[in-house]
Amino acid sequence: MNEDSRREDKIPVVQMLVVGFIASALGIAAGLAIEWFPESASTQAGPIDHLYDVLIWASVPIFVLVTTVVLFSVMKFRMRPGEENLDGPPIHGNTRLEVVWTAIPAIILVVLCAYAWIVLVDIEEAKANEMRVNVVGQQFAWTFEYPQAEGEPIKSNQLYLPNDRPVRFFVKALDVIHDFWVPAFRMKVDAVPGIETKYRITPNRLGTYPVVCAELCGLGHSVMRATARVVTPEDFEKWMAEQKAPAAAGGEGAAEEADGKTLFTDGNGTATACGACHTLADAGTNSETGPDLDETLAGADAAKIEEAIVEPDKEIAAGFQAGLMPKNYGDTLSDQELEALVKYLGEVAGK
Ligand code: CUA
Repeated sequence: MNEDSRREDKIPVVQMLVVGFIASALGIAAGLAIEWFPESASTQAGPIDHLYDVLIWASVPIFVLVTTVVLFSVMKFRMRPGEENLDGPPIHGNTRLEVVWTAIPAIILVVLCAYAWIVLVDIEEAKANEMRVNVVGQQFAWTFEYPQAEGEPIKSNQLYLPNDRPVRFFVKALDVIHDFWVPAFRMKVDAVPGIETKYRITPNRLGTYPVVCAELCGLGHSVMRATARVVTPEDFEKWMAEQKAPAAAGGEGAAEEADGKTLFTDGNGTATACGACHTLADAGTNSETGPDLDETLAGADAAKIEEAIVEPDKEIAAGFQAGLMPKNYGDTLSDQELEALVKYLGEVAGK
């Protein structure tokens, strides 16, 4: 009898070890196989993704250990019929056990934190030839400012970056807390009113990547998006030159740039597309995030339309709230673009 029960006690431990080992191996394999992040586009992504893999190696076995012990205990020590009113045996603390289960997690945490800190310091190292970009978050839009040697900074609703050039973002918020995140670059930081937060990345792959707000900031949080375009240094210079002198471009390009309908539907690379939030029959858009412009702008004169774009909170359409539409279009649209947009809306709204 005694021998039997002792053997019975040993078997579950061996079983637990075997089950735990297999479950850990499966969990780690699945954790490493899943594509957690989009394709990377910065030199910082490599060390960060590696750090993430190490965390999976460290955390999956612990998760498996805890859940296996819990499940085992639930099965092995469950209450049987007739035992409902029995109290369990009195349990005293086991000091040695408590020291061990406190020390081991503490050591694991310290080692992982040290590793993460070293990675962060490493990828945040200042680089030569660094470019500065100011990022301003407000309900519900991003504005990117490129300071120049002279005069006002260039402002844009889209983030343009030259490939392989280190960049440092200086992030601010005008109203509530936002969070500036380009998943393809991996780094992200809160935009907090009253302080300036920063981070560095070096884009290393040409392409177009989403910029998102990663902090719930109000009704329009989900539409607080922009696009990061990593372009060749030549294309970047070209874009900067266009931003400096939009009127001087001349020819067909300029005519296209000032086309109100194009601006409305796809933003033309310079502004958030109005059509992403507004219904307008002529443009073929049907979003209901903002007011239906065929209704609200029908019969409005040019001054009224311009006010609705530049000072959206001055008059709020029925059923909508103040603060939903970005207030930065006066900054990010050029005079020509604003004029073209007003002209276009005046011609087609409500028709
Ligand atoms: Cu800004 Cu969420």
